[in-house]
Amino acid sequence: MWSFAGGSSVIPLDVRQILQDASRAQSLDPCCYRDPQFLSFEHETLFRAGWISAGRADQLSDQGDYFAFSVADTELVAVRDEQSLVRVFANTCRHRAMRLLEPGRGSCRHLTCPFHAWTYGLNGALIAAPRMQSAENFNRSDFGLIEVQSAVRAGFIFVNIDGSAAPVDTWLGDFETVHSPWQLDTLVTASTREFQVACNWKSFLEVFNEYYHLRKVHPDTFSGLYAEPDPLQATRGSFVSQFGEHRILGSVGVLEEAARTLPVLPGLSGRLANGTRYTWVYPALTFAASRDAVWMLEATPNGASSTQVRLTLLFGQDSVARSDFDEVLACYEQRMAVGMDEDMAVLEAQQYGLSSILARPGRFCPDLEPSVHAFHRWYANALIAAGLASG
Ligand code: FES
Ligand SMILES: [Fe+2]
Repeated sequence: MWSFAGGSSVIPLDVRQILQDASRAQSLDPCCYRDPQFLSFEHETLFRAGWISAGRADQLSDQGDYFAFSVADTELVAVRDEQSLVRVFANTCRHRAMRLLEPGRGSCRHLTCPFHAWTYGLNGALIAAPRMQSAENFNRSDFGLIEVQSAVRAGFIFVNIDGSAAPVDTWLGDFETVHSPWQLDTLVTASTREFQVACNWKSFLEVFNEYYHLRKVHPDTFSGLYAEPDPLQATRGSFVSQFGEHRILGSVGVLEEAARTLPVLPGLSGRLANGTRYTWVYPALTFAASRDAVWMLEATPNGASSTQVRLTLLFGQDSVARSDFDEVLACYEQRMAVGMDEDMAVLEAQQYGLSSILARPGRFCPDLEPSVHAFHRWYANALIAAGLASG
């Protein structure tokens, strides 16, 4: 047992209070939001050994389309290969480990290293290595790109870097059944934006999944749009989900002054046609599946107090086909930008509080923060499994 220099916390953390019901539980110790030991744990255990989302499969629509990104300091590239399968490779050359592609999206017929021009096919095979004839026992077939385990479910691309995660369908449990009315695999990606927030990645995802802050942080924008949410959905798998009806009849995806909204998604009826399901797939994918749109956030830690975020807006095929879609889309983007700005101001100030050695675990509002509690419980159990906590 040892203590952090200058901190108040002791490893293993005692997480028994987190494992209680939300009505009795304490929140995660603030040291988990600031200390490098926990960031290392998250990289190694949650991000490299878990299933992490890497955007939407429809963003790689054609053979050769790629998305280069990073998870837990691991450079990856997802590519649609010549068999039209999405595959994910280390974005690292097999010669002397150059990063092959700059982060971002593009299209290519093959991947050529910018250093010495080793060239790989879309299936990862090394197909050219200039001037290597004199290298003894050099077989190109031994130097294909390292492939990472990946799967597409409900239109999301999931990757598991170290190959040790439970099968993706075990990880996701009944995720696809719970979300089947939204027909997620048919939705179209209409808009993406990347940005950084000066807060811990967990805080960023937490605020998206709780109703408690709406009244204080979004009083004039959308706090009045949501009715009291349902209790947590009973689920099986590494995710939490909470549905809530809207107080108003209409979209919560645009601000009040926006005149036009999009129609209800085709699979929704009854209560689902006037509500939003907030879902958090652990560790780092969350989305709101609403009546007319799905807005999705993927978070990656850049450090204990910096988070890289991808925001993606998804719509039904009929909506995207409308002639006025671009104009209406701008209203949805504007609403997300306004809400995100309001949240970011709070998150950055919260990080100052969490970074104080005087910060202590708090309590949950049981009805309005159950998803945050569920995540803390999942995190605490992962700490226990890693020997960093006792419960
Ligand atoms: S490092 Fe890629 S070809 Fe040399
Ligand atoms: Fe918010």
